Amino acid sequence: MIRIERIKGDGCTVYRAVSGGRVLGFASLGIDGELEAIQVNKNARGQRVGSKLIGAVEESARADGVTKITGKLRPDADSTKRSRNFFEGKGFQINGDSISKNLR
Ligand SMILES: CC(C)(COP(=O)(O)OP(=O)(O)OC[C@H]1O[C@@H](n2cnc3c(N)ncnc32)[C@H](O)[C@@H]1OP(=O)(O)O)[C@@H](O)C(=O)NCCC(=O)NCCS
Repeated sequence: MIRIERIKGDGCTVYRAVSGGRVLGFASLGIDGELEAIQVNKNARGQRVGSKLIGAVEESARADGVTKITGKLRPDADSTKRSRNFFEGKGFQINGDSISKNLR
């Protein structure tokens, strides 16, 4: 079972996906709604860990009054196609290497 832990920091909130005592991935959201990072361990990708992380990010961002999530795709070619598919599937707008989603 995958559990998402939320750790509030100074200026950002970190989300950690944990299963069986191991971290499978993490995300970080700034208080201004900037998705600073979302990353799933290579051998855990494609198993909905990222979906659970972004779901938790959106849910608590909404609760905190964030109206828009913004971010950048990573430039490395290896992960670009997958991350594009990932964010498109989650309802994000993609413009060049910028991503955004209005929360309502
Ligand atoms: C992008 C990333 C976070 C997605 O996490 P994940 O746990 O692999 O994603 P999920 O298993 O939740 O998959 C959700 C969607 O992602 C896409 N996806 C997942 N695995 C894929 C694969 N092997 N090939 C293509 N698309 C794939 C699909 O659109 C999938 O939708 P589906 O559920 O309809 O199949 C992960 O691949 C990653 O860490 N990439 C490297 C870091 C990165 O690029 N971060 C984003 C910018 S900071």
